[in-house]
Order: sequence, then structure tokens, then C-alpha cells
Amino acid sequence: MGQSKMKKTDNQILVIFGASGDLTARKLVPALFNLYLARQLPENFVVLGASRSDMTDEEFRRRVVLESSYLKNKLEDLKDNYITNFSDRFFYEDLGGDYDVDYSRLRKRIESLKEEFNTSGNIIYYLSTPPTLYQTIAKNLAEAGLNTQNNGWKRLIVEKPFGYSLETAKELNAGLQQYFEEHQIYRIDHYLGKETVQNLLVTRFSNSIFEPLWNRNYIHHVEITNAESVGVEKRGGYYDKSGALRDMFQNHLLQIVSLIVMEPPISDAPEHIRNEKVKALKSLRIMKDDKTLHDNTIRAQYMASHIEGGHVKGYREEEGVDPESTTETYAAIKFFVDNWRWRDVPFYVRTAKRMPTKVTEAVIHFKTPHHQIFQDSGMNSKDNKLVIRIQPDEGILIKFGVKVPGQGFKVERANLDFSYSSLAETHVMEAYERLLLDAMQGDATLYARADEVEAAWEFVDPILAYWKNGKDIRMYGYAAGVWGPENADELIDGIGFWRNPGPNLTDDPGFCVIC
Ligand code: BG6
Repeated sequence: MGQSKMKKTDNQILVIFGASGDLTARKLVPALFNLYLARQLPENFVVLGASRSDMTDEEFRRRVVLESSYLKNKLEDLKDNYITNFSDRFFYEDLGGDYDVDYSRLRKRIESLKEEFNTSGNIIYYLSTPPTLYQTIAKNLAEAGLNTQNNGWKRLIVEKPFGYSLETAKELNAGLQQYFEEHQIYRIDHYLGKETVQNLLVTRFSNSIFEPLWNRNYIHHVEITNAESVGVEKRGGYYDKSGALRDMFQNHLLQIVSLIVMEPPISDAPEHIRNEKVKALKSLRIMKDDKTLHDNTIRAQYMASHIEGGHVKGYREEEGVDPESTTETYAAIKFFVDNWRWRDVPFYVRTAKRMPTKVTEAVIHFKTPHHQIFQDSGMNSKDNKLVIRIQPDEGILIKFGVKVPGQGFKVERANLDFSYSSLAETHVMEAYERLLLDAMQGDATLYARADEVEAAWEFVDPILAYWKNGKDIRMYGYAAGVWGPENADELIDGIGFWRNPGPNLTDDPGFCVIC
């Protein structure tokens, strides 16, 4: 995994399908540009955009580089020839009306670029198209002989959503594996590209102070919050068919869960890490009966409200959303992990749109010390917590008890924190930048494997089925801008409330004496 080793990246071509779409300009090209600035791109490297729009190379360059609003700030102070040295590597091929065409013209274009720029026949195909096209594109690539590895490696990157259910995910996996081998397929989950998510592994496995406590003997429960202040924005059409569970929980949040739950891998080799993650996901207790599903899952939708004096639409009034929609914008799930380490430790995970702030964090709540000496100290509510802040204000916070100065032994809670922003000298790579570079170097550690994706769906499928057809299933409402429906607090056994974090890691003050 170690990027610091600065591995050499092979010469290659990146072919982006769906190149005229938003993701290319918004995420992929800025990520490539950052790699260019950091001199991380291979010496001989070109990008070939392919999609259904009629565009020249020049038009494509203007759209995604020279006139792109996503690059504007970065380009401002740079010399023209430095910028064109980057944009001149971009080419465009119009596939015609459809992705389901003969790719021999595309093949010719790839071959001529390969000759001209000496890219050695290594190719990444990045599918930034609707998932319904993945298999079609893979098939057409194969039919044009563009998947063979005898003249350079070939890799296929696919975006989420990866399936709509366990069954469709399996179909998709099988469909792609007809044309590409599993080791050639890279399923992107941008949360794995986040430094703080990767740091979960380092926190756990490079410190001897956490791992001995990382189990049912010392951990009371685990709480993960993923909150966004935005609503569904312009993606109502997509979101209404998806919902919070499919959009965030099945992929990003279960990835975080798997890193918290997994056993120590033998080494940091991709397959060692991925094997442990799959095992972790397979150990999540699948909820089968209606009562369990009823008692452990909560879904809700945001409703219209006023935030800072402005009217905010309710979910059902959003563009592209069915006015009678029962799609959840809030999901809270309680579950257990059936293995030696985690037996009886509840996990609480929630994700939602239109919350008071944007924040993602995982909190490990430790148990009260086995024998309490300081009887009147109110320790119960002051047990140790490890807060892993994934975003924003990325960092780690440990809450621990300290003695209040004075007579007797009164205990208060203090903060010990580390903030990534304190590493001023370090360039923290953006998720897509990191993930693209990894794929370019053939490192699949931070990509989801087929069995991993299927294991995640296996857990999620019964919840979706229950929400769709179950008896007594409710859809709660919450005013846009609050922390979800009130009854979600009831999910947290014995404590009765979620930790509602502020935008800054240390917002929640620890005990502090200033004079
Ligand atoms: C995407 C979801 O995968 O992740 C979006 O489709 C969501 O609905 C986004 O807004 C959140 O990503 P981040 O990196 O901003 O937390």
C-alpha cells in the first residue's frame, strides 16, 4: 500500500468511457492533474475519452482541462506550456450513437496512440457510465480483442453502484468475469481512497495500545455516523431508485465496518487485506425475521423546513422524486458480528442527507473499568472513547478520565487529539487521485473484490426486502436540518442517544482547566 515508496508507474493509456459526463470533469481529470503536478504520471501516458457525444480532441481538452471550472483555480498561476503539456495528452473518440457498437474503430485509435506515444499496450478502461452499460462495454472490448494481455496489461475500473441487490451484483460480477479476469477488475469505492479510512488499518495494526483492547472484553459498542447537510441535489432521479442504504451503507459504510471488524492480516499485501475484509463482512449477523428487522432498523425521509431563514424542500418535493416516494434518506441500523472477537458487541451505523452538518466518524466506545474505585465520579458516562474522524477536520480523538484538581477523586473527561491538518508539510491525496494511481500501478488493495461486494449485499438485501414488503414497517419523517427522527435514539441500548458530532473534531469539549 505504501505510496511513499514512489513505485514506478508503467507507461499506459487511460480510456474513459462516459468521458463527456460530469464525473470525468469533476473528479477524474482533477485527480490526473494533481498526479501531473506531483510528477506521478508515467512518462508516456495519454487519456482517450470515449462517449456518445460528437467532440473533437480540442473540444474535449477545452471541456475537461482548459476551460473546466473544476480546474480553474489550479490553473491560474501556471505557465501556458506547462498546462498544454498536460492537455495535449487528452484525445477523444466518438463511439457513435451507442456503446453497443463494433469497437474496431476504437481499437485503431488506441493502436495509433500507442504507436505515437509509445505507451506499451498497457490500458486502463475506466467505466464512468451507467452500470447498465458495464457488461455491454466489456463484451465489445473483448470482441475487438481489447482485453487480451499478451501485449501489455489491461485493467477495468468500474464505478458504483455495483448492483442493485445481491442477485444483480452476482449477475454483474459474472457478466464482467466472462470478459475480464477478476484480478483485472477494479471496483472503485471512493471512501477507500480517503486517508482517514486507510488510517483505520494503521491505527489498529501499527499501535500496540489499541489492538489488545479491540474486542468484546473492552469495547462496549461501536457507533458510526455519516451525515451530509445537502439533500439529493440534482440527483433525485437516481437517488429515488436507490436510497440511503444502497447509496451509502452497502458500499462506503460497510467498507468502514469491515476495517474496524477485520482480523489482523498477515501482511499489507492486497489479497491478505482483502481476504480479512471479506471474512469480516461474512461474519455480520444477517437479520432474517421481521421482528429483528423491525427492532434494529430505522428509515426516514427529510421533510420541508426552514434553515437559516431559507425554505428547504422536503424529499418528496425534490426534482425527479416521486411525490409518494418511500425511498429513505436516513437509515440507522443496529447489528452484531458473529465471531470470537465481537460476540454481543452492538454496532450502530447511520447515514443520512439533510443533517445539521457534514461529518463522518467512527466512535469506539470502551467499557467502564471492570472495578470502579472512584464510586462517585460518574464514570459511566465518561468511559473512554476513540473517535476516528473521517471527515472533515480529519483526525483522531481519545477521551479519557482525568482527576479534577482538588480534594477527593472526582473524575472528568479530557481530550487527546491528533489532527491531520497539523501535518502541514504533507500533501494529502484526494480519494480519486490515490485510487487512480493505485490502479495505474496494479495495486488493488483499496478496490472492492467481487466476493466482498456480494458479502455486503448479502447483509443488506434482507433489510431492503423488509423495508419494501414487511409488515408494520414505518417511514419516519424528520425536518431537514435536524439529526434524524427522534425515535432513532431508542436504537442505542442503554444509552438512548447518538453522539451528534459538530464540524470540528474537538468541538465536544473535554475537561479543561485554564487557570
Ligand atoms: C456518493 C453518494 O457515493 O458519496 C452520494 O452517491 C454522497 O450521495 C457521496 O453524497 C458522499 O461522498 P463524500 O466523499 O462527500 O462523503
